[in-house]
Amino acid sequence: MKIKVGNKGNIKVLLAFKDEKIANIDSKLKNYIEEKKLFNGKKGEIFTDIGPNANNIAIIGLGEKEKLDGQVLRIAAFNLAKKLASLKVESANIEIREIENFTQNEIIHLLSEGLLQSEYVFDEYKTDKEEIFEVEYNFNIDSQIEEAEENIKLAKDIIEGVFIARDLVNIPSIDMYPETLANNAKSILEKVGVEVEVLGKKEIEDLNMKAFLAVAEGSDKEPKFIIMKYLPNKDQKPLTFVGKGLTYDSGGYALKSPNGMVTMKSDMGGAASVIGAMYSIAKTKLNQNVVAVVAACENMISGRAYKNGDIVSSMKGTTIEIINTDAEGRVTLADSIYYAATKIDSAAVIDLATLTGACVVGLGDFTTGLVTNNQELCDNLVCASKVAGEYLWQLPVQEELRDMLKGKNADLTNSTGRMGGAITAGLFLENFVEGKPWVHMDIAGPAFAESAYNYIPAGGTGIPVKTLYLLAKNFNK
Ligand code: BES
Ligand code: MN
Ligand code: ZN
Repeated sequence: MKIKVGNKGNIKVLLAFKDEKIANIDSKLKNYIEEKKLFNGKKGEIFTDIGPNANNIAIIGLGEKEKLDGQVLRIAAFNLAKKLASLKVESANIEIREIENFTQNEIIHLLSEGLLQSEYVFDEYKTDKEEIFEVEYNFNIDSQIEEAEENIKLAKDIIEGVFIARDLVNIPSIDMYPETLANNAKSILEKVGVEVEVLGKKEIEDLNMKAFLAVAEGSDKEPKFIIMKYLPNKDQKPLTFVGKGLTYDSGGYALKSPNGMVTMKSDMGGAASVIGAMYSIAKTKLNQNVVAVVAACENMISGRAYKNGDIVSSMKGTTIEIINTDAEGRVTLADSIYYAATKIDSAAVIDLATLTGACVVGLGDFTTGLVTNNQELCDNLVCASKVAGEYLWQLPVQEELRDMLKGKNADLTNSTGRMGGAITAGLFLENFVEGKPWVHMDIAGPAFAESAYNYIPAGGTGIPVKTLYLLAKNFNK
């Protein structure tokens, strides 16, 4: 897809609110549309009159004026792009109009995001590939041309990061395991100037990451600890992302059901989104130091695997009673978060994890659950998510919940049972942040979609790459 600024294009595209009189079109067509009620401007609605004897026009619905937000613009542009590609339209001219509460640059950025999202496919494993019809889009504007072009480029760089995260999740674990995940991080990030260091089992042992190693032990695939550094700035403490990197979660001896296991290639969704975000951050040359770490391993069964009832130590020295081998994410994160808090001079730590089914039960498939020890950082993250069009919800913490984490025979238990499971999982992690400002993001719902919705395809979603990007962008402002 090409997106440019200009007044070219075979068909004209207009933006219209609900029940709005449509200006700038042929009055005969206008009367026809009104009479037959062919278009009423509902959000995301697309009207087209395209063909050899047609007016060659498309109208996209923005819904009610008072309710317009960025999501509506993204979804409308996405629907338009799907439609025009299916009609094999070579080029389109989008008339940018004034919209209350949005700058021209914001409109262009949001529309570009929606258009670009329409091109995502994951067909690497299919013999017959879907053909993508290339449409050229021109934004028709008469001022701030350069800024508009910058915003198109920015949207591209961000959506590339989103697509990277989706691909990493979608590739099945037979091909995406710790070593290949690390290789992907290297090849994707080094070309945009991120330094990537990969530690193998021996070096992980030297760091005393006993919790991480216990989870990894049941797999024949060597664990990898991936450290990604983007440090454009001298004398600035980095913002640090920690991604859960379970390239497969069978549950271990607390074995999942066959159905519960099919999508568990997605248990590295946290790792995928931090890699995607690092890409966009470096590609757009943000002036903010960012570090990301991922403890990558598989949770499997074997004669060496850790067992229900085991007690394992950790890098910090805190002991963990393994009540349930399927609560493995927090065990690997204990060491990766402790590493982020103590080995990197982090200004703040954000961890992202497909951590609990409880979070999905509580908040649904589309919302990330948050647990934090720092309200300001959490508020900034929520702010970023609103601009990104990704949904976050802060979970409440009570002291009584913390008491549930005490182990019978060890310092901590890795499983406190079903009640409040998304919160207690977050509070477990809090023990390893060493007082650093921290937000935990449970992305078990939104990281992976059973079926497509809005501009999100089925499979890996790339959520919340955009939120992470915006947090980094505004971090020191
Ligand atoms: N990776 C899962 C969580 C998950 C579930 C992610 C569904 C996406 C969709 C995690 O490792 C897990 O198994 N959590 C357990 C924790 C429990 C044993 C305390 C869960 O949620 O059942
Ligand atoms: Mn699990
Ligand atoms: Zn898991």
